Amino acid sequence: MGGLTHLIVFVSMCAAITLISEAQYLIPVTKDEPTKQFYTTVNIGAGGMSSPVNLLLDLGTNLTWLNCRKIRLLSSLRAWPRPTGRVVQDNTTIFTTQSGKPISIAPSRRFTFSCAVEKYRQGMAPRIAGVVALSPGEFPFWRQIASAYNIIPKFALCLPSYGRGLGYFYIGTHSFGGSNPVPMTLTPLKIDSGKYLVSVTSIYVDGVSLTLDPSLLEGGAQLSTVVPYTVLQTDIYNALAQSFTLKAKKIGMSETTGHAPFKHCFEEGASGKNMDVSVMEIGLPGNGREVKWRFQGANMVVRVSETVICLAFVDGGKKPNESMVVGTHQLENYLIEFDLSTTRMAFSDPLVLHNISCAK
Ligand SMILES: *[C@@H]1O[C@H](CO)[C@@H](O)[C@H](O)[C@H]1NC(C)=O
Ligand SMILES: *[C@@H]1O[C@H](CO)[C@@H](O)[C@H](O)[C@H]1NC(C)=O
Ligand SMILES: *[C@@H]1O[C@H](CO)[C@@H](O)[C@H](O)[C@H]1NC(C)=O
Ligand SMILES: *[C@@H]1O[C@H](CO)[C@@H](O)[C@H](O)[C@H]1NC(C)=O
Repeated sequence: MGGLTHLIVFVSMCAAITLISEAQYLIPVTKDEPTKQFYTTVNIGAGGMSSPVNLLLDLGTNLTWLNCRKIRLLSSLRAWPRPTGRVVQDNTTIFTTQSGKPISIAPSRRFTFSCAVEKYRQGMAPRIAGVVALSPGEFPFWRQIASAYNIIPKFALCLPSYGRGLGYFYIGTHSFGGSNPVPMTLTPLKIDSGKYLVSVTSIYVDGVSLTLDPSLLEGGAQLSTVVPYTVLQTDIYNALAQSFTLKAKKIGMSETTGHAPFKHCFEEGASGKNMDVSVMEIGLPGNGREVKWRFQGANMVVRVSETVICLAFVDGGKKPNESMVVGTHQLENYLIEFDLSTTRMAFSDPLVLHNISCAK
């Protein structure tokens, strides 16, 4: 009898320990429709005096900063002047989750950010107070949180496609989908000058590889949460647009005038309300073989009027800094994980294939 009780206690202790070590940290992600900017909401300040602030998600920024006037009471645990403003520390509150759902507020932890003056906010949606740094650098927000809670250095994003749905920003191991996890594919991450890139082996449209000068793909593709539509070097853009146009015409669409920043737009005509024109796949190195990151439907096109859709990619010119920058329209409704413990990125199937989305 005593033995059994011990066993039960032992088992439940293990369960409790497992739960703690797999604690998940989650903050919501919102899309500001007019600007197509994605932000997360963090509570700064501890206890009763915390203020929610909206911060733009930026994979390319090292320094988290905001207009500190948006905070009711700044503890200013430490403050020292810097050219851009003051660097301060305050506590932030985030949620722990289980099976993908927020369950409770985690004990608040301190993080360091910078107070910048209003002019740095230029171009941002009025409701956004600053920027949350998600770079692979030494001190971005996600790394500060991971080290404050002593969890594995990785984070995952699920960007919602419309403004009223809340998406997900997990720090540590994600639990998206709960007991029905979506399949994820791994590819090595390349970290270069504070940017996240993936190597590109080829680009396919409807299963056929685009004919491209291999040097165009050499630099790989950068991932961005601030570029709204994927930007492609001219030759890559043209090859994609050509294949896409052929397919669009085949299914009864007719080409119409461009709609800035988009160059290829189509009257839906006889095709009906059909966003599923072409499937694009980016070939990436996997575990000893090529893996494919698939884009289709709403990730490929954007509706600009009742009857017109456009190819949702932008021509970046002949000599852009990067031949491919994957933007947010293409990242919506995927779960993307940046794992700095293994330097790998994991991407899900398009969530639409599983009848789910990033919006809850
Ligand atoms: C703020 O965070 C620190 C650790 O980072 C913690 O020790 C402290 O208790 C927190 N303050 C409050 C009021 O929660
Ligand atoms: C961020 O820091 C890295 C080094 O950790 C540096 O290479 C990169 O240029 C920095 N990025 C910006 C935008 O300052
Ligand atoms: C390209 O890189 C240069 C130098 O790093 C930078 O000044 C410029 O703003 C970049 N252009 C774009 C479009 O990002
Ligand atoms: C998604 O829903 C469609 C119909 O609404 C159904 O045919 C399909 O099997 C579903 N797919 C999954 C993966 O549940």
